[in-house]
Amino acid sequence: METKCPIVYKDTPSAHAVRMELEVGRMVAQSFRSPGQFVHIKCGHSRLLRRPISVCTCQSDDPADLLTIVFEVRGEGTEWLARREVGESLDVLGLLGNGFQMDPKSRCLLVGGGIGVPPMLGCAQYANGNCDAVLGFRDTGHALLVKEFQAHCPTVAVATEDGSLGEKGFVTGPMEALLAAHSYDAVLCCGPKPMLKAAAALAKAHGVPCQVSLEERMACGVGACLGCAVQMADGTMKHVCKDGPIFDASEVDWNG
Ligand SMILES: Cc1cc2nc3c(=O)[nH]c(=O)nc-3n(C[C@H](O)[C@H](O)[C@H](O)COP(=O)(O)OP(=O)(O)OC[C@H]3O[C@@H](n4cnc5c(N)ncnc54)[C@H](O)[C@@H]3O)c2cc1C
Ligand code: FES
Repeated sequence: METKCPIVYKDTPSAHAVRMELEVGRMVAQSFRSPGQFVHIKCGHSRLLRRPISVCTCQSDDPADLLTIVFEVRGEGTEWLARREVGESLDVLGLLGNGFQMDPKSRCLLVGGGIGVPPMLGCAQYANGNCDAVLGFRDTGHALLVKEFQAHCPTVAVATEDGSLGEKGFVTGPMEALLAAHSYDAVLCCGPKPMLKAAAALAKAHGVPCQVSLEERMACGVGACLGCAVQMADGTMKHVCKDGPIFDASEVDWNG
């Protein structure tokens, strides 16, 4: 579903990130499956490809569904996107991908790293009050959405690499403590691949099922090219856009 979506709100939740709220017509009502899906946004008027951005939060609303994205500038596409202002419209394809397999009643440990944190807020909101969260950032200047998580999660642990906010180190420190203290139905993760790999290993050691959100460069976003193919542990290839972006951690080829 391709829709022209007005930007109705914009701010900067950290010095490095931009948050936009979009009116997306009936997109959420028609294609929401579960948190962890993404939208594919046309970034520019030239031949530039669309760019995939995770749904942070979304709701089915009247007169138009509302959807929030949070992103950092990486290159030409996200730089163009960051310059768009309230009142302008974006060409958005979505909602795409499978989303996390979760039940609103399930008790999950949500793990987000860096710009992988925003989609985990959608999970926290979906299972309001049932999930704990571990959020990892480079430093306090990159920290995002901590208050928003605190509104939905009984426990929110923060780790920064330089110790400027929360515990010093990586997400695996607070994860270890929470996995030892509580019984979770699943660990759900989004972030850089080394973080996903470490989180998946920790979840496995505690006997808890783990799902991860994989990032791959994308072209079509709907399974029609080979742009986002990744090799899985069993040797098969899967499309991150159509078969994912969420995969069971046991399916992933962590050494690929
Ligand atoms: C399913 C999915 C969800 C995403 N959600 C978010 C989000 O919520 N917020 C956010 O800020 N970003 C998100 N991203 C990453 C975002 O799509 C890229 O940062 C963006 O496409 C970069 O485009 P660009 O034109 O700005 O930079 P480019 O000029 O295209 O690239 C700049 C640099 O980033 C690298 N890069 C670009 N795209 C990717 C990618 N997909 N994976 C790894 N490296 C890449 C390039 O190799 C290059 O080094 C997501 C990606 C995927 C696949
Ligand atoms: S981006 Fe084309 S198949 Fe996934």
